[in-house]
Formats: sequence, structure tokens, C-alpha cells
Amino acid sequence: MSFNKNLRTRFYDAYDVSYVMQFISKLATMAEPERRDLPGFLGEGTHFQSFELDSMSLPLAINVAKTSFARRGESALSRWKEAVKVAQSLESASLVPPMDVINAFGLTVLVMPKGKVVSKSGAKVVDALLQDTAKALGQAGLVLDDYPQIREAEGIPFIIDWSDLGFLNR
Ligand SMILES: Nc1ncnc2c1ncn2[C@@H]1O[C@H](COP(=O)(O)OP(=O)(O)O)[C@@H](O)[C@H]1O
Ligand SMILES: [Mg+2]
Repeated sequence: MSFNKNLRTRFYDAYDVSYVMQFISKLATMAEPERRDLPGFLGEGTHFQSFELDSMSLPLAINVAKTSFARRGESALSRWKEAVKVAQSLESASLVPPMDVINAFGLTVLVMPKGKVVSKSGAKVVDALLQDTAKALGQAGLVLDDYPQIREAEGIPFIIDWSDLGFLNR
């Protein structure tokens, strides 16, 4: 499915790295609890805190790894980053959004489109897309070892939570 191509184009057209870097530099000066009071705070899980950055034509989610995730150690972190890169390159993995992994100011950050709740029409295709995606990830030697959290941007559903992506045989 070529669904994701549109989102990819929109993402890279909108993506202003220096603006994102500026935001990350600000986050880096704040403690995790303090960051929850920022106006763009979207939510958090065990591994990431997520913030909306919306001055661009496509609103972005800036997902910052919490110290607990970073504490996995350098080699685990670099394997995870490598796995994200492989996932991103898979044309047939419909639910993989365009993403960027940034290491800056001591933080590990995943940037992707900000998603909204999946629409009715999106929900109808999600099951089939989940199967495509799991298959494509598996063929590339990857597994997302978590219940997939799905949101939608520009009418395109995608998985937002990539913290538990890894290689099957490592
Ligand atoms: N792309 C996104 N669009 C909208 N909200 C997001 C996005 N990414 C993350 N979030 C919000 O941040 C929360 C935590 O992100 P998530 O990746 O699930 O972290 P964790 O791996 O710690 O569970 C999500 O449950 C969601 O509320
Ligand atoms: Mg997670």
C-alpha cells in the first residue's frame, strides 16, 4: 500500500530540524516531572514522554526517551535505533510512520507525525494493515513486542509506540 508515501512526503516537507533541535535543547534543561507542565505535553508511558510541536505544516510528536529507557545502556540503545531505521525503510509495513531518531543534548528522541484518534474509516483498515506490518517486520527480522498503539494523521493510521521494537534473533 502506498498510503504511507503521502505521510512521508508531508513529514519531510514540514520537518524543520533546527526548530526541533531548539525544542529538544529546552527539554534537556528540564527534569522529567517538570516537562509534564509544558503546553504541548501529549502523554507518557514507561519509556517515553511525548510533546506536540505544531508550528510546522504537519504537527509533530517529539518523543523523548525517559532516563529509564536510556539506562538500558549504549549497546541496547544503538540496537534499538538500528531496528527503527530498518523498520522505516520497509515500504510494505503500512503502519510504520516516517520517523527520525535524534541524539542531542544527552537525549534520545523519536520524531514522527502527531496522531489523532483513529477515524471510523481508518479503523476499518487497521486489522489488515496490522497483519501487513507484522509480516513485513518479521521478514526484516524485526518484532514489535508490544500491543500496537495506533493513531492517525492526514487520514493515515500508524503505530506511535516503537519503544519495544527489536531484532528477532539478537
Ligand atoms: N505520534 C504521536 N501522536 C500523538 N500522541 C503520541 C504520539 N506518540 C506518543 N504519543 C503520546 O504519548 C504517550 C506515550 O508514548 P509511547 O510511545 O506510548 O511511550 P511508551 O513507550 O513509554 O509507552 C502515548 O500513549 C500517547 O498518548
Ligand atoms: Mg512503549
